[in-house]
Amino acid sequence: MPEGGPDLEDIEGIGPKTAQLLRSKGILSAKHLALFNPEELIEITDMTPDRVDKILRSAREAVLGANRISKATELAKSFDNITRLKTHVNSIDELLQGGLEPKAIYEFAGEFGTGKTQLCHQLSVTVQMSPDKGGVAGAAVYLDTEEAFSPSRIMNIAQRFDMDPNEALDNIYVIKVVNAVDLEDRIKFDVVRLIEQSNVKLVIVDSIIALYRAEFRGRERLAERQQRLNYILDWLMRIAKVYNVYVVLTNQVLDVPMGYIEVKRPAGGNVLAHAVTHRLFLRKSREDVKVMEVLDSPRLPFKASAMFKITDKGVEDV
Ligand code: GTP
Ligand code: MG
Repeated sequence: MPEGGPDLEDIEGIGPKTAQLLRSKGILSAKHLALFNPEELIEITDMTPDRVDKILRSAREAVLGANRISKATELAKSFDNITRLKTHVNSIDELLQGGLEPKAIYEFAGEFGTGKTQLCHQLSVTVQMSPDKGGVAGAAVYLDTEEAFSPSRIMNIAQRFDMDPNEALDNIYVIKVVNAVDLEDRIKFDVVRLIEQSNVKLVIVDSIIALYRAEFRGRERLAERQQRLNYILDWLMRIAKVYNVYVVLTNQVLDVPMGYIEVKRPAGGNVLAHAVTHRLFLRKSREDVKVMEVLDSPRLPFKASAMFKITDKGVEDV
């Protein structure tokens, strides 16, 4: 059995031929298959709708279990048992109630220079630590849409935590993304492969909005842009849930007029607001101090905040 769970052949209704067809299209395992919806699978395989429905249903049952109903008491227990991924900035870890939770999407939104990329770098290192040190002993995939990834920054951060800098670099898979379609393909196939085969536990998209803003310009293309954005966010959430991984997105801000003043709001409209689980807003405070504030979250208190600063060693407490 691959790390991703059951093999394709273990699924009812999938014989060697179908398994071969699915693999030739980049689908690796039953878990990976279970991420697809019927329309997507018909499009890439040309199978009939009836057949697609049948194998997707069996794949979901095999992967997620037929019985997905749990009592809230059990859920509460499983919440206590989740492994949190620490940023190793105490104020931020406290704000996040111990660190990032898996199966959720975190958004860091803020103006240029507020530390979004720095935090992503730091998490790419801390994810590699063992659980007793606040990590999850995993690798990271960094989907870089802005040419922001910096190996030297990773090395500095690794040194701060007494980790071997080269080993830290070795556990980060950087994918340069050129446009929205490319991002979709990378997430649907490459990211899943890295999760299944290379121990990736953290998926970073820095930034989610840049490509869409550049590609779908003007009011007339806004609806199309939002639809595409929604599509990719939905995929990220499917991956997060099925593979129990941590997902972090960075986002830019817009100046929105409010009477005589302008306020900064995360870009991406309602689509992004609804798709992310925890929305965190980053802003500059006095001198070199930055602030992270909870803007929207099902569990974190609204407007709670944490201070941090960016130094030669990464992101630190003030
Ligand atoms: P955009 O991507 O432009 O929207 O900004 P961002 O929020 O991603 O900013 P980022 O995380 O890249 O933070 C940039 C800040 O980190 C700048 O103020 C830099 O001065 C600071 N910074 C980056 N590298 C270093 C470093 O090696 N040492 C120190 N002291 N600061 C650094
Ligand atoms: Mg950045």
